[in-house]
Amino acid sequence: MRHPVLKMEGISKEFPGVKALSDVSFELYPGEVHALMGENGAGKSTLMKILSGVYSPTQGTIRLKGKEVTFGNPLDAQRQGVSIIHQEFNLFSNLTAAENIFIDRPEMVGRFRRIQWSKMYDEAQRLVDSIGGGEIDVRQEVRHLGVHSQQVIEIAKALSFQADVLIMDEPSAALPENEVKKMFDVVNRLRAQGVAIVYVSHRMKEIFEIADKVTVLRDGAKIDTRGIEEVTEQSLIQMMVGKEVGQLYPVREQKHDQEVVLKAEQLSLDSAHNVSFELRKGEILGLFGVPGSGTHTIAERLFGLRRGTGEIIIHGTAVKINSPSQAKAKKIAYVPPDRHRQGIIKPMSIRQNLSIPMLPQLSKYTVLDEARIKEMSKEYMEKLRIKAPSDGQSVDFLSGGNQQKVVIGKWLAANPDILILEEPTRGVDVGAKAEIYNIIHQLAQEGLSILLISSEMPEVIGLSDRILVLYKGTIVHEFAHGEADQEQLLQRASHPLSEGGCL
Ligand SMILES: Nc1ncnc2c1ncn2[C@@H]1O[C@H](COP(=O)(O)OP(=O)(O)OP(=O)(O)O)[C@@H](O)[C@H]1O
Ligand SMILES: [Mg+2]
Repeated sequence: MRHPVLKMEGISKEFPGVKALSDVSFELYPGEVHALMGENGAGKSTLMKILSGVYSPTQGTIRLKGKEVTFGNPLDAQRQGVSIIHQEFNLFSNLTAAENIFIDRPEMVGRFRRIQWSKMYDEAQRLVDSIGGGEIDVRQEVRHLGVHSQQVIEIAKALSFQADVLIMDEPSAALPENEVKKMFDVVNRLRAQGVAIVYVSHRMKEIFEIADKVTVLRDGAKIDTRGIEEVTEQSLIQMMVGKEVGQLYPVREQKHDQEVVLKAEQLSLDSAHNVSFELRKGEILGLFGVPGSGTHTIAERLFGLRRGTGEIIIHGTAVKINSPSQAKAKKIAYVPPDRHRQGIIKPMSIRQNLSIPMLPQLSKYTVLDEARIKEMSKEYMEKLRIKAPSDGQSVDFLSGGNQQKVVIGKWLAANPDILILEEPTRGVDVGAKAEIYNIIHQLAQEGLSILLISSEMPEVIGLSDRILVLYKGTIVHEFAHGEADQEQLLQRASHPLSEGGCL
């Protein structure tokens, strides 16, 4: 009989005011990909942080290869064979890839305390090659690498310690669809080498593609572990949420106004060339393209984060938007794809974060209207089901998906006319996704105009009234309401001129 490489038993973890885990057991076998699922705040990351030495459990034991272990810190866990790739990357962007992999490692220091650079580069390149990252030059600084390459560096870093157990916490959340495949190749290679992998993700499709087993957590307790062939999408949702989840996408009837709220004329900068479109009042306009197609650039241009040529016309008047504050003054709001760089201020509380964009309206003379701020933050916490003991909780302590909800809440509360949403439900669980979609839909009905940029095709198709497809910085196709399916959308986004797709 095969023995588990890892056995966690009776694990509980309490934070002030939060019982994150209660009496959870979890087993892992060599060469298996084990999915860990559950709603936002269910305790997945906490369990994995305990397994990787970030936190110590309040109660419970961990056995690795039959022996009881305790991990003093993450390095200690790595030395004993457990490595983790966190939900948020932990790379130093101005160090090289090789330095990131072997940072602070005594084996790379030679005589007279000199770093053995060539040994480090060779070893790093070998590791990166072994997981299929041959095209990456490890002498490059990390900031020059794409997201998938950065992830390969994270994995290489984790593997540089002979890992028996590799934990991947939402590894695909930051990856575009076409790069997820490459990551799966890496995972399959590792599985074949006998590494046990814990795979945390909210994306159902991936779970069925890559996992051998799945364990579901709900409210800090383990619901069950099953073979992947024993479950269906519906039964998994039922296990995670504890009830049936209704329809994910609201039914959109196209009855927005004809009034044009925003007109982009011949916008050019960087990867985008002469992009023109109109956004009408109450419309949800999808903007779809593969990474580098220019969708992100356009969003940043409209929000004043970047400058370029062409004209932005709002309510019929040409305006200059050269900074986010000018954009905000024109009642444009932007939910960025990368919540950590641009979305939230982590040490501040939920309430403070939610109220930032509204401060001008929420202060009388120079005094803050605390009562209104409280009321508003309570409203959005409820609307978005942000899970926390109170709105005074620091955002740092929220689960990843709940942080994303704060970013969205913050911009919704600002009461904009035009809302640019980029990857709005990244890392958000199924139940909360349905909530967010409903809110987006309702806001559009109330007259908000929304530009939706997302790499999740079902989301773009399910929500948009029209979809514009960008390819290499140019709009190559427009789908009317109800016209697009995933296959066509992807085809237009990757080979716009094939099969009668000429303009
Ligand atoms: N350091 C901390 N201090 C206080 N509370 C915390 C801390 N870390 C996590 N929590 C709380 O513990 C609970 C479980 O969080 P965890 O991050 O494990 O959720 P998760 O399942 O990973 O969710 P997600 O899918 O959103 O990433 C949440 O209620 C969270 O707010
Ligand atoms: Mg998490």
